[in-house]
Amino acid sequence: MKVITTVKNMQILSCELRKEEKIGFVPTMGFLHKGHLSLIDRARSLSEIVVVSIFVNPKQFGPSEDYLTYPRDFERDKRLLKERDVDILFYPDIKDMYPTGYSTYVEVEGFDATLCGARRPGHMRGVATVCMKLFNIVRPHLAVFGEKDYQQAILIKRMVSDTNLDIEIVLSPTVREGDGLAVSSRNIHLTDKERKDAAVLYKSLLFGKNLVEEGEDNTDKIIKTMRKMIEGKRTARIDYIEVVDSKNLKLVKTINKPVLLALAVYFGRTRLIDNIIAVPARWNV
Ligand code: PAJ
Repeated sequence: MKVITTVKNMQILSCELRKEEKIGFVPTMGFLHKGHLSLIDRARSLSEIVVVSIFVNPKQFGPSEDYLTYPRDFERDKRLLKERDVDILFYPDIKDMYPTGYSTYVEVEGFDATLCGARRPGHMRGVATVCMKLFNIVRPHLAVFGEKDYQQAILIKRMVSDTNLDIEIVLSPTVREGDGLAVSSRNIHLTDKERKDAAVLYKSLLFGKNLVEEGEDNTDKIIKTMRKMIEGKRTARIDYIEVVDSKNLKLVKTINKPVLLALAVYFGRTRLIDNIIAVPARWNV
């Protein structure tokens, strides 16, 4: 596995490689887990060269968010990627990505009304900006994103389509622990009690999905039931629970098409997100 640490060297290498071989790309912020590894396996199955980037992007964290405490372990990550047969690890320096005087941002309109886009001002702009930069540096033919960050994946698809980037965006399913908790780099911050309580997130999503499938079309009722389940856990503090159109992510009041049930919940100081797609019973008839 080649480890490339400068933007210039990565660009030179990928320009050369892409003439002959298909490049699959998985952008990450590191502290890798089996969710990341599943995206890498997906990229491997679809391309000849697999590039993984590790870059904790300061532009997507708000001033009161966890940029400084975001978990990092480069040596461990490098080992995991080597074992996974990754061809290239791109690990740029912050000053190389955002040199003094940096002033260009990518704004994808319409993502600030719901979900994390509404709760984390500037977050989606930071994600779009870094992904556009990484795409221009790595020059992949395809890039794999996790459904766990559903809004992020839809945003990137929109950006790629709107700006005519010749990159296929592939979505990959959420990998979970045995009790259903979505694997996340941030789970390491949970205390034992918080970790146990956090299993309620997936349970509440499954419960909500079931209600939709059984014919409940009133989102207020579904959210109320899910809220009750989550509030039953002492360490949980809900940021949001929302039901949105699974295509355009707009709020839905009455369900008559596939929806995304999505939530963000704090356990102590750790904010976790998760989601599930629910298709109403009468949709396919
Ligand atoms: P990060 O949180 O490191 O996630 C990198 C990729 O892994 C994202 O596409 C995310 O959706 C996916 N992922 C995370 N947990 C997963 C799980 N349990 N199952 C499947 N996929 C999972 O998302 C980011 O980094 C950043 O915003 C980034 C896109 C790298 C831009 O900075």
